[in-house]
Amino acid sequence: MRSAPLARRGPCPGLNTLANHGFLSRDGITTYTEMIAALQNVYNVEFPVAVALTMLGFVFDGDPVSEIISIGGSEPLVTGQAGEFTGDYGGVSEHGTFELDVSLTRNDYYLNGDSHSFNGILFGMMVETAQSTSSAENPLFDFNALALYRSQQYDRARVENPWLYFPQLALHNYGAATFLYNTFPSSAKNYTPDLETISSFFGAVQLPNGSWGHVGERTPPNWQNRVTPLNLTDVSTGISDLYAAYPKPYGANVNGVWIPLNSTSSSATRKRQSTSDLLCGAYDEIIGVAEAAPQPFAMLQFVTEKANPVFAAVGCQVYSMP
Ligand code: HEM
Repeated sequence: MRSAPLARRGPCPGLNTLANHGFLSRDGITTYTEMIAALQNVYNVEFPVAVALTMLGFVFDGDPVSEIISIGGSEPLVTGQAGEFTGDYGGVSEHGTFELDVSLTRNDYYLNGDSHSFNGILFGMMVETAQSTSSAENPLFDFNALALYRSQQYDRARVENPWLYFPQLALHNYGAATFLYNTFPSSAKNYTPDLETISSFFGAVQLPNGSWGHVGERTPPNWQNRVTPLNLTDVSTGISDLYAAYPKPYGANVNGVWIPLNSTSSSATRKRQSTSDLLCGAYDEIIGVAEAAPQPFAMLQFVTEKANPVFAAVGCQVYSMP
């Protein structure tokens, strides 16, 4: 289904699909509770996964008091309460927050100021990579394809984006890439991450000249979600395995000159990215971002109430309100 006129849509095909089908408000302005329910009901992720993903969105881009977030651009007048603004409500599209450089099908922000819209040229490159790792007739968007394509995207960005920023936080994008083979494939199709499935979730349509255009993102016909819920360990091992296939140094281009951010020797990388380190690291990151929110105590209260029970249960040391 096409999105309603003026509906907010952003860089996340998973959320855009949910809004296009009405599992999130079709206008793209949603709440914490609606998002938690939609992620579980449609993608069959466990409650802790839904909380971790949604909370990452909120600390960067949403309002902790109204509990509203835009899945597209900044909407202060609808995200905050009139006259009561407790955040800057950048929305999921805001670059330099949850949205970072080196995506699958979105530009780096520096290149044209739009890092949220679907880019058919990038989608076409992803298809070619999948053809090279599986077959030209039936490209599969599996682990091998996504590991290689992320590596290629990184290498391209190092050369093409003189202001590339690739901090450790960019591991999020590895998580997003695992969703192509962990949440999008249909259990009714034996979880095959084929082109029909992936193009539908990305809203990609092939034009007569072979290039890729865009329509509203949607679930493919007769799609059925995962039978087993995706848990936090699946997500964190998914991220570390995908990263470990082609480990890339963290760092930044500063006017085209590469500045490394820290050491990424293979063993150091693996040690730092054990499953519990990744999960508790994500929690620490949520707290760190909350502390820098426009109203840090409102955000910290929101985070401790919603996320502490989930992360304490997996052994993370959790923050207490002063
Ligand atoms: C199970 C649920 C979800 C699925 C299946 C999903 C899927 C994806 C995929 C496949 C991408 C990569 C798009 C690309 O690089 O071209 C992505 C990107 C993104 N998603 Fe989601 N997502 C989910 C939940 C969420 C939530 C809850 C949020 C925030 C509230 C979110 C925010 C983002 C952002 C900000 C990006 C852009 C990252 C970047 O490219 O820099 N996602 N998502």
